[in-house]
Amino acid sequence: MDRVYNFSAGPSALPLPVLEKAAAELVNYGSAGMSVMEMSHRSKAYLEIITEAEASLRRLMAIPANYKVMFLQGGASMQFAQVPLNLLRKGKADFVKTGQWAKKAISEAKRFGAANVVASSEDKVFSYIPKLDPAAFDPGADYFHITMNNTIYGTRFTRLPETGGVPIVTDMSSSILSEVYDVSKFGLIYAGAQKNIGPAGVCVVIIREDLLGFNLPGTPTMLNYVTQVENGSMYNTPPTYGIYVAGLTFKWLEAFGGVAEIQKQNEAKAAAIYAYLDESSLFRGTVVPEDRSLMNIPFVTGSDELDAKFVKEASAAGLVNLKGHRSVGGMRASVYNAMPMEGAKALIDFMKKFETDNK
Ligand SMILES: Cc1ncc(COP(=O)(O)O)c(C=O)c1O
Repeated sequence: MDRVYNFSAGPSALPLPVLEKAAAELVNYGSAGMSVMEMSHRSKAYLEIITEAEASLRRLMAIPANYKVMFLQGGASMQFAQVPLNLLRKGKADFVKTGQWAKKAISEAKRFGAANVVASSEDKVFSYIPKLDPAAFDPGADYFHITMNNTIYGTRFTRLPETGGVPIVTDMSSSILSEVYDVSKFGLIYAGAQKNIGPAGVCVVIIREDLLGFNLPGTPTMLNYVTQVENGSMYNTPPTYGIYVAGLTFKWLEAFGGVAEIQKQNEAKAAAIYAYLDESSLFRGTVVPEDRSLMNIPFVTGSDELDAKFVKEASAAGLVNLKGHRSVGGMRASVYNAMPMEGAKALIDFMKKFETDNK
């Protein structure tokens, strides 16, 4: 079977050249005589791989020198606990509740201190980003947490909250590297790899240096950011192959022209899909226009039966994983960096045909 257009929310499509390069090097990497999977993480060849992966990510995101980069395990979900363990020195943090992932981050933080919800969009099934009132922010909070892009509901922050001196911590799992972000505006960024970075199993954490060293008493060694920073993410055996593929994806994105270039493509893909959703008399998007995600586009017909028919027929036509998250229903098209414009066009063409056939 040919490769399909994979609209999965994660793990999701990787760029074909990345997969091909990994395949070409699978059994014998360079002159190593072995696969990256078989290498010692302490070997010279592997040290070059992880060092170059970090350097490439630093170039792509223009990460300032006073930020450390870590490649960790446990996914973004581990960060829901690891962030408060390391940053909650005064015992309180502010959160914006914009979906299931934000809720999980809040409930984990509550294990270690006060997690204050300053705004929520739960009243309308998280279909918008709530307006933020800085008067509700706690100037004494250890950090202010937002989920930059809400994978399930298809919303995204388009501007950052004014938090004064309180560091912004963000879950960037589903939008990292998709648009230009100013890293210097954040205290900490974390992102599970399995959308725009590489295979599941790696979580990228970027932290401003001055936030290191304030972990709670009893923090396990492995969960202390200082341990990971001091050991270059190699206190124990890191997810070596995942980091290698992440490095290939970073290189692919650099060759593409970098984040600003892919942002243009992402905006064009999303604009084309939203434009069709807005003119369609069968389909409609579920998110208010001003907060629409570039990466995850949920839509519905209004009929569960037609939704199911659409997902089934789209899949038969090579447009797969379009079923929406169980909490929203309907459909969701995830159009991460690896989804080319042709994939978005193929989806729109198929939707148009489906609309005509089901009038
Ligand atoms: C925004 C966001 N945060 C967190 C997670 C959880 O990530 P992980 O499975 O890597 O723990 C996801 C997964 O899809 C996500 O989309």
